Amino acid sequence: MKINNISRELLLSVYIRLPLLVSLPLNLPMYFRLSGSELRLLLREWYHNFRVLGFPTPQNPGMPGLNQGSKQWILFKLIDRAIALCREQGESIKGVELFCADGFYANYAVQRGAESVMGIDNDTYQQDKARLITKLLHNEGKISFAERDVFDLPDSYDFCICAGGLYHLSNPSDLLKLLRESIHTALVIQTVYSLAIEAEDYFETPAPHWTWGCRFSHLYLLQMVTDCGWEILESHTNELKGNKRPEDRGSAYLLCVPE
Ligand SMILES: C[S@@+](CC[C@H](N)C(=O)[O-])C[C@H]1O[C@@H](n2cnc3c(N)ncnc32)[C@H](O)[C@@H]1O
Repeated sequence: MKINNISRELLLSVYIRLPLLVSLPLNLPMYFRLSGSELRLLLREWYHNFRVLGFPTPQNPGMPGLNQGSKQWILFKLIDRAIALCREQGESIKGVELFCADGFYANYAVQRGAESVMGIDNDTYQQDKARLITKLLHNEGKISFAERDVFDLPDSYDFCICAGGLYHLSNPSDLLKLLRESIHTALVIQTVYSLAIEAEDYFETPAPHWTWGCRFSHLYLLQMVTDCGWEILESHTNELKGNKRPEDRGSAYLLCVPE
């Protein structure tokens, strides 16, 4: 009985880990440069698959993979445009990624010409992952990470990436107002919005079915962003294929500049 349980565990582990292992790059010297804890971190599931940035990472193809697929191509275009706007200003191209988790969009931004990016998230585990992948992608000279709340911004920046975050807050407009004081040139936003309620005054906190965060309609989002002093240059929507409920499925993308 015990042996059966052990072999079932083994089989399950091989079944789950094998596809993850074969997806990793075959670069043995690089793995020898990692510490044991870094190796373990690398082999655990990632929020993002960094393949498109040059280093495949094991990711659950369910919710995280589907939502990355919905979001990344639109966000890449908006980040490119934000960097181009900074370039046009002729100043530095210094960015911040709020709610950065494993730093996927911070790494994208430096690969596309940002001079430096600070990643902010309040989750230690995600910050450890962010530091590791930044090292594996050879971007460590340009990216730093701070484990802190998004309201605790250490500096001012030329551009900001605020993806997957506004709906985590009970007071998203306070963050948009704060960013208006700290971001000089461009703000890229991605957020969940509700497909269930379209009324322009729909805002709810905590979010339905959750004990935290908030939910709002698309029209509410557009009004809130402009009320906080931002001009919207580009606006897109699609659906987060990994989220089942209509309340969690709308995804909005905005490129904004200070009004
Ligand atoms: C859904 S993930 C977004 C990841 C990535 N930005 C993306 O869009 O794919 C949200 C992240 O926000 C972080 N977070 C939530 N509330 C936060 C807060 N008040 N301050 C800092 N980080 C926060 C969580 O730890 C989590 O890593």
